[in-house]
Amino acid sequence: MNSVKGTKDVLPNNSYIIKYVESVVDEVAKSFYLKEIRTPILEYSSLFKRAIGSDTDVVSKEMFEFDDRAGRTLCLRPEGTAGVVRALIESGLYRNKINRLFYKGAMFRAEKPQKGRLREFHQIGVEIVGDESVYADIDVIMFNIMLLDKLGIRDYELRINSVGCPECRKSYLLKLKEYLSPHLVHMCDTCNKRFETNVLRVLDCKEEKCRKIISSVPTIIDSLCNNCKTNFNNVISLLEINKVNYKIDPMIVRGLDYYNNTVFEIHHSSLGAQSAIAGGGRYDGLFSQFDPKINKFAVGSAIGFERLLILLEELELTKNIKDYSLDYYLVIQEGVNPEKPFEIMKNIRKAGMSIITSGPDRISKQLKDADKLGARFVLIFGEDESKNNTITLKDMSNGRQFTYLIDEFLSYIMRI
Ligand code: HAM
Repeated sequence: MNSVKGTKDVLPNNSYIIKYVESVVDEVAKSFYLKEIRTPILEYSSLFKRAIGSDTDVVSKEMFEFDDRAGRTLCLRPEGTAGVVRALIESGLYRNKINRLFYKGAMFRAEKPQKGRLREFHQIGVEIVGDESVYADIDVIMFNIMLLDKLGIRDYELRINSVGCPECRKSYLLKLKEYLSPHLVHMCDTCNKRFETNVLRVLDCKEEKCRKIISSVPTIIDSLCNNCKTNFNNVISLLEINKVNYKIDPMIVRGLDYYNNTVFEIHHSSLGAQSAIAGGGRYDGLFSQFDPKINKFAVGSAIGFERLLILLEELELTKNIKDYSLDYYLVIQEGVNPEKPFEIMKNIRKAGMSIITSGPDRISKQLKDADKLGARFVLIFGEDESKNNTITLKDMSNGRQFTYLIDEFLSYIMRI
């Protein structure tokens, strides 16, 4: 039996790295006063068609979609933002002036698997809802940067752009159509279709012949209205105040339809072809797309968890992350009553330390097992200890042994 293409097991020999990264995420999220939200993996497909857009690659080519027994079309969520917006509307929480949220979770996209690109992958997302100010845009960017910094990841590149408001987008789309029109005969079928239905998505095409043409399209940043220009300049000056290096990249339009104004991606060259570690931006129009009566400002981003792990490995940052070791191994000689050793084991665990035993057996065999498992201490309960109501502690780092009265040992453990 094989795992499903594009999925990966997390095996016990590296799950501690994942737990460590998650703990850093929790710590950074707390410092930004972001509260965790967990939404279901299973959603109605229509949610993403509406939110992300039917012409995007994610919706048109990459969703794992199926009908349930009642004929409803469901999918495995390809991203987290749409589900968060749905949950805020459904729960009524959108009425809060501001919701500052984060999530960690599995997302699914039927992409061609390669390094850093999976079909089941995990994102760490941030969504700040209800805050119009560019300070919220900066908070979202800074969350990603602080997380990378805390993990020791340097030399990333923040690429930033503005996709304007619906008004300036209109004039840009006209310019774009004007430019692309004479080239359409040399472009792929999808581009020709998208030219009619959603011309901005032509810019996402990966085909070589189309990329050449796309590389010299007019840029959206030159079509921004005065408000959007000021807004973008404010974001840039806040980045400078925060001493964040950035590159204005007019080609960043993101692959999802819901964005307006600030859009950004963070790239790292050690990731190879899939160099984007995080991406996000503002999506002020998304709530009203679900319910025209609800207008909420919103901005967010998501960072790819597996890409973070690749960077930690490639930059040799995992060697400082330690897995927990076995504190005690309990050796019980054959034929003795195990009641007392069980009491000791229970109290050691209560004190938050680890202890295991494989039950009564030859002492020499159990000592070998303890050594193989890397136990720091061994507790020996043999015939002599049973007779004298004692327990022997062996320090595996130097082989020294001490014998204690069980009651004394227990009261010492209970004080820890
Ligand atoms: P996205 O750019 O589609 O944005 O994904 C964010 C990040 O998820 C990417 O930069 C990448 O690190 C990771 N990622 C995406 N696809 C894969 C894959 N197939 N395998 C491994 N990692 C992947 C979003 O999903 C938006 N919802 C972000 C957002 C939140 N915008 C506003 N709020």
